[in-house]
Amino acid sequence: MYLGIDLGTSAVKTVLVDSAQRVIASESRPLTTFSPRPGHVEQDPAQWIDATFATLDALKATHAGELAAVEGIGLSGQMHGATLLDASARPLRPCILWNDGRSAAECRVLERRWPALRATSGNKAMPGFTAPKLLWIATHEPEIFAATKLVLLPKAYLRLVLSGEAIEDVSDASGSLWLDAARRDWSDAALAATGLSRDHMPRLVEGCAPATTLRGELARRWGMTGQPVIAGGAGDNPAGAVGIGAIRPGTAFVSLGTSGALLAPTSRIAANPDRAVHTFCHAIPDMWIQAGAILSAASCLAWIARLFGATEAELLAPLGLRPQAPSAVSFLPYLAGERTPHDDPAVRGMLDGLSHGTDRGSIVQAVLEGVAFALADCRDALADAGIAMTEADAIGGGSRSRFWLSVLANVLNVPIHRFAGGETGAAFGAARLGRLAVTGEAIAAVCTRPQRIETFEPDAGLVDAYAERLPAWRELYRPRH
Ligand code: XUL
Repeated sequence: MYLGIDLGTSAVKTVLVDSAQRVIASESRPLTTFSPRPGHVEQDPAQWIDATFATLDALKATHAGELAAVEGIGLSGQMHGATLLDASARPLRPCILWNDGRSAAECRVLERRWPALRATSGNKAMPGFTAPKLLWIATHEPEIFAATKLVLLPKAYLRLVLSGEAIEDVSDASGSLWLDAARRDWSDAALAATGLSRDHMPRLVEGCAPATTLRGELARRWGMTGQPVIAGGAGDNPAGAVGIGAIRPGTAFVSLGTSGALLAPTSRIAANPDRAVHTFCHAIPDMWIQAGAILSAASCLAWIARLFGATEAELLAPLGLRPQAPSAVSFLPYLAGERTPHDDPAVRGMLDGLSHGTDRGSIVQAVLEGVAFALADCRDALADAGIAMTEADAIGGGSRSRFWLSVLANVLNVPIHRFAGGETGAAFGAARLGRLAVTGEAIAAVCTRPQRIETFEPDAGLVDAYAERLPAWRELYRPRH
């Protein structure tokens, strides 16, 4: 039996997976995000721990027998967050999240101080990443910077609480900008450019390798007979890839979570930092992931549902299964700024083309289309790096909407495949990594591709209609910096 724990942005989700890779049970607990100032996005690390423990306590109440038999645990997590710990491993302040835009000026400083940043990390310095956040802390909260003894990404902090050890996997670490992506090791020059050294960093492991074990008292709390192994795990995007068996070149996929991404596993680095393409180590050895990442995807649908005082299902139902034509309204999904391709933390969203005739449906459709157009920008940025995509699997909460996947198939002009749901996702991928760390099985034997239940084919008429709209949609973007 294996556990996958995904420390997401909106919730912690824990799944219990058996040796036949069936999800036996799943529990999730919501997380709160707060914004002390415009563009600042933070969470309280204590809440991650309470939420994780609550999922495990709940599993103990309903599935004690299965939980007792857990041998391996995999962790997945929201990437890039800066959790700063003092000498007693206590958080010094709230975690600064992946969608926090405060450190734009520090990104420029970092690139000036360390000109090899793009070549070494495969990434452009963007405020979402961890390193510029530390420079911001050094300037604006110098006493906290001085007290910082350890910098951990969110799931590494969770692992520290679960095991007592500070360990990070290379996929999540590549979202810090401190990693030499080709060598899959910390870059001393990168750390020095932010006034840090390896002493401030956790030890690194591959995602599918054993990292440590669960503390004895926690294993006893959850009635486990042994002390389960904790794998390296992965950032949520690489963990999602493992969950759907996207472990080889040619297995591109699109993620419609709180954030969105178009991701392509590669056997070599094919970076394009100038267009804000992300380079991540994959959660399996000798593979990387190139990604176009957008900051708001399913969160745009949640936003519009809040505005209309309706549930997402109520908004989607009247749209039917597929669009008849593009909406007359256009939407820029930059509610939290944007990474690929603009790297513009200050830009904000927009609704354009409103009239007396605009109804709720055309606004909701425009929101879904705006996210799809933003993913078309990601596709083009990846294509510039030589990564062509002929089809894509869809994962994440947004992939439950058939209408949205139909829009995506037409905007991206490739078939989009959908899975049944349950046995996918970052938590499931994490559980697979937990299993690999225990059994050492062949990666391909464990990371199989789930059955696709539906394919959304592009329709020639709609492909043309969306292709005509894309240039006008792009024109709406006006840089704010
Ligand atoms: C990826 C990114 C997000 C977070 C939160 O670069 O910032 O996908 O991992 O899910």
